Amino acid sequence: MNLHLALTHPIFKIISQSAAELGIDAYVIGGFVRDYILERGQHKDIDIVAVGSGIALAKQVAKNIPNRPKVQVFKTYGTAMLKYEDIEIEFVGARKESYTEESRNPIVENGTLEDDQNRRDFTINAMALGLGEANFGTLLDPFDGLKDLEAKIIRTPLDPDITYSDDPLRMMRAIRFASQLKFTIESASLEAISKNKDRIKIITKERIVVELNKILESDVPSIGFLLLEETGLLEYILPELTALKGIDEKEGQRHKDNFYHTLEVVDNIAKNTDDLWLRWAALLHDIGKAPTKKFSKKVGWTFHGHELAGSKMTYRLFKRLKLPLNDKMKFVQKMVFMSSRPIALAQDVTDSAVRRLVFDAGDHVDDLMVLCEADITTKNPKKFKKYHNNFKLVRDKIVEVEERDHIRNFQPPVSGEEIMEAFGLKPSREIGIIKEAIKEAILEGKIPNEHEAAYALMLVEGKRLGLKKNEV
Ligand code: CTP
Repeated sequence: MNLHLALTHPIFKIISQSAAELGIDAYVIGGFVRDYILERGQHKDIDIVAVGSGIALAKQVAKNIPNRPKVQVFKTYGTAMLKYEDIEIEFVGARKESYTEESRNPIVENGTLEDDQNRRDFTINAMALGLGEANFGTLLDPFDGLKDLEAKIIRTPLDPDITYSDDPLRMMRAIRFASQLKFTIESASLEAISKNKDRIKIITKERIVVELNKILESDVPSIGFLLLEETGLLEYILPELTALKGIDEKEGQRHKDNFYHTLEVVDNIAKNTDDLWLRWAALLHDIGKAPTKKFSKKVGWTFHGHELAGSKMTYRLFKRLKLPLNDKMKFVQKMVFMSSRPIALAQDVTDSAVRRLVFDAGDHVDDLMVLCEADITTKNPKKFKKYHNNFKLVRDKIVEVEERDHIRNFQPPVSGEEIMEAFGLKPSREIGIIKEAIKEAILEGKIPNEHEAAYALMLVEGKRLGLKKNEV
């Protein structure tokens, strides 16, 4: 089969010519070929295999590009990279053995194209296109990757035990591709992953998180998380989630399985947002339920304080996985912490409760509503409709209250300086007390969020505290 139409970008002619100048064969391989056949749009990076030195080919290619891009050489891996326009092109020499960060193997002998394809992760990633004059665009597919693409199967070129022990990250990659592409992992592969699951320990957290994020970013993330659970990998990576598995029954009372519920919430939210961190919030929103679970005869199963517990666990989880400990983490923590607020509120939508919600959630109130709507997983159609209608009321009220009261990003209508000036005060706790009273009165709807009313209340509160108005 010839796929020369995949190679219309001018860079391929340059690589082809450069390889000819060096007298070596070169091929495009991996994700670029796979995604072209799948019609997934232009793959963002291009992997080139040279039957010879990848580094020499990269340097030759750079010479043939008018603006002479910089070649980044990674000696330890025998690879080189350069950027052409917005495309990253990675060059590697074909080898007989795989070499990865973790395997610590020295780079062994150079090999043929087929040796190299053998050592790749999956048949669908081992397809190559020729870049020589005679084979430009010819598909070289020794493991029937094309067939597997059509059948939507993830399969390893070699015995899966070998492929996965070459690089245990591939266990995560298999599941990530299954989730992204909605493919099935072939049973021998699935067994090998279960068998080798503890090898994931040697993989750096950063690389694991890249795959985890891609699973979360897929259309139906539960595909990936169910596979992670089924193979036992999830226990190593996110034990907070596996701890949510199971249904306990005492005295005829049961609670729902919070693991499967969580996955439903994640799938729901994936339909409404592409924001990775909001998806993380959905994934973690109930993790506090495992440590807070209690049973009492009177009220049955409870998870009191699970939101606070969950937000604290979020910090530890982010730290352990080397996820960023920045405003993204704080956002996830806040969403987890506030995840039950709109639900409690929806029972009785008062202005003051909505003002408090907007005050506490600030700019994230819309995200919080998206999370809470995703949290509705009841299978009872009547309840489903009722809950959604309640949230619609909350949303309408948020808009209404916001238009009137401007609570979002609340700025006190009377400043600390004004209070000091009014009563001739130096910085002191009275200022805080007065400010808090004004804020409370606004949130409760006792006064409007306006300077005049707030100033009047300040005078009343000052008097109550025994302060004298500064008559200047
Ligand atoms: N590869 C591999 N084993 C790995 C990582 C990568 O065999 N652990 C090979 C595969 O042939 C893969 C190619 O290197 O197609 C490029 O890897 P990478 O850029 O990480 O992935 P892509 O397949 O391009 O897909 P994506 O961009 O979606 O990650």
